[in-house]
Amino acid sequence: MSDTPTPVAPDESDARRELARLAAEIAHHDLLYHQLDAPEISDAAYDALRRRNLELEQAYPHLVRADSPERRVGFTPADGFQQVTHAQPMLSLENCFEDAEVEELLRRIRRFLALDEAAAIEFFAEPKIDGLSCSLRYEDGYLVQAATRGDGTVGEDVTANIRHVADVPQKLSGTGWPQALEVRGEVYMARSAFRKLNAAQEAAGRKTFANPRNAAAGSLRQLEPGVTAARPLAFFAYGWGDCSEAIGNTIQTARANLTRWGFIPTHPSRLCYGVQDLLAYYAEIQEQRADLDFDIDGIVYKVNDLALQKRLGFVSRAPRWAAAHKFPAERATTRLERIAIQVGRTGALTPVAHLEPVTVGGVVVSRATLHNADEIARKDIREGDTVVIQRAGDVIPQVVEVVREKRPAESAPWAMPDTCPECGSSAVREADMAVTRCTGGLICPAQMKERLKHFVSRECLDIDGLGQKNLVELIDRGLVRTPADIFRLWDEEPAIASWQGWGERSAEKLIEAIEARRTVPLERFVNALGIPQVGASTAKLLAQHYGNLTAMRTALESDQKAAREDLLSIDGVGPAMAQDILDFFAEPQNRDTLDALQRELTVADAKAPASGGALAGKTVVFTGSLSISRAEAKSQAETLGMKVSGSVSAETDYLVAGADAGSKLTKARAAGVRVLDEDGWAALISDPGLGA
Ligand code: IVH
Repeated sequence: MSDTPTPVAPDESDARRELARLAAEIAHHDLLYHQLDAPEISDAAYDALRRRNLELEQAYPHLVRADSPERRVGFTPADGFQQVTHAQPMLSLENCFEDAEVEELLRRIRRFLALDEAAAIEFFAEPKIDGLSCSLRYEDGYLVQAATRGDGTVGEDVTANIRHVADVPQKLSGTGWPQALEVRGEVYMARSAFRKLNAAQEAAGRKTFANPRNAAAGSLRQLEPGVTAARPLAFFAYGWGDCSEAIGNTIQTARANLTRWGFIPTHPSRLCYGVQDLLAYYAEIQEQRADLDFDIDGIVYKVNDLALQKRLGFVSRAPRWAAAHKFPAERATTRLERIAIQVGRTGALTPVAHLEPVTVGGVVVSRATLHNADEIARKDIREGDTVVIQRAGDVIPQVVEVVREKRPAESAPWAMPDTCPECGSSAVREADMAVTRCTGGLICPAQMKERLKHFVSRECLDIDGLGQKNLVELIDRGLVRTPADIFRLWDEEPAIASWQGWGERSAEKLIEAIEARRTVPLERFVNALGIPQVGASTAKLLAQHYGNLTAMRTALESDQKAAREDLLSIDGVGPAMAQDILDFFAEPQNRDTLDALQRELTVADAKAPASGGALAGKTVVFTGSLSISRAEAKSQAETLGMKVSGSVSAETDYLVAGADAGSKLTKARAAGVRVLDEDGWAALISDPGLGA
């Protein structure tokens, strides 16, 4: 091999790669030297690595990494972690609680794949680790980046910290790994390590952690990597993201590869062949749960065959090929001191139980939701009762039942008030509905506040610097009543500066933060509107479906019948949700709010799905009988950003005709629509360029 010296200034992409490799290598040697007292290389060789790194950083200052060896020692980024956009989004899982839901999952998968009811599908079953997910990126065998899940699309760069997690290889072992490999898994703290850590914290007079998950999260999300280094974190690999080549044909083979390359896959795991088999595994692990040295909160079932996984694809943010079967929630008993009422942004009055604080599954609970009056009546819950509460994961604790023997003699049934506790307007229960709503509408300060809080929240406009406290002050002082008012505050800057606790700098910062959000992506804007039942994931579906706000408003504010059909064609939108969306756009007050916002803001068009290419935005109609299920055909089209319609019209770009196609085929031919058979469709989607 020739021994050509590395040039001082390679081209930019080589420099980027070399810097990544040097960061990993130097971190590895730092760990060996400082923590393990077991250096592998001489001081001179180490210094040479550092010099080369510095040389490249000086030649390319914009390539200096967040985890640069020059910055690492004692380095704390000024404002938290850098953001990382995941090359492939980090998804979540659908939850099952009952055996029947697992049966339904299998039925749905078979139906989607057009398999018959008895067809065997191989599943890979493994524990669901209660930690925090992390994506590790390897290039040329070296760990170059680690990111938390964040919102699934953008996470935090925790590279410098993850280098201190013992189960995360700095450099892949074995052979055959792809040039780029993203390994996904859960960072967790073993129970034994957690107990030791808490004992040490206590002895040192420091705060202890409530549970291993909190300890793991607090330790990984440390701005000071030195602190992470002292915390015993571990890592289980459960999947992968963007890879430059496939790492197996099944989960089983991919995991075998991950093991060879230095990872510890989640265990104990098993291949299963049907509902009975899956449930038996679930029961077995539940039995072992208390003896495992790590917290788990359920079992994950995944289709083993990766080709089938690909066909099954995703709905919204969760794969169709997997689900989490959760263990039952943990419970505790305590006293319900009183029932208070919260008024939400849609005016719903929600009763909330104020409890004597109690620990459930490692967390102190002092509030629990009571849902609505029917629920309270059904369970006959009264103030002063002793109640059983339960908590599952991060969901709000619930009151399960009353311990009747402990009921005080003088207790009385609880009744929903008939006026709003916030504005005094009458509170009305709509026919056939469980909720009671305040009729105060815009005059109810609680509704207004909740709507505005939602509007500026992290998932919506995300106006940094307009936290709840500031927003409430702006509302209470009468400066903000509607969302658009927020964008007219610049006139008020001197007034705000004069308020107690503010000053010129704070007022200026607030206005700057607001100005920074004058352009907002469509999906965030739609979420911010607070349409009942429409959260972040539906807002994203709507944004992708309509593309821009004008198209969306035109479609939803004109012919209601067509608008409903169009909404129902979106995978993930059902009839009740469609009705709420239509009602929202039909309401004149909401249209005024939209007009006012559009005068102040630029709503950016939705990006077509990344893989869309030439077919994005095109409309396809399926007819006749196809060998794949309609659901799969629809999913194939939507993955490419296409719209699926039920009828042929002037907007139709393609008609895919299976056997025995009828009138739609005749109509499409007459209209000059491009007609494909099933093979033609398969060819088109495997090479979307054909459609151009
Ligand atoms: S698979 C596309 N497997 O659960 C599916 N997730 O609710 C990706 N989790 O964010 C997830 N243990 O942090 C998978 N054995 C396991 C898991 C697991 C824990 C977490 C993961 C994910 C969340 C989804």
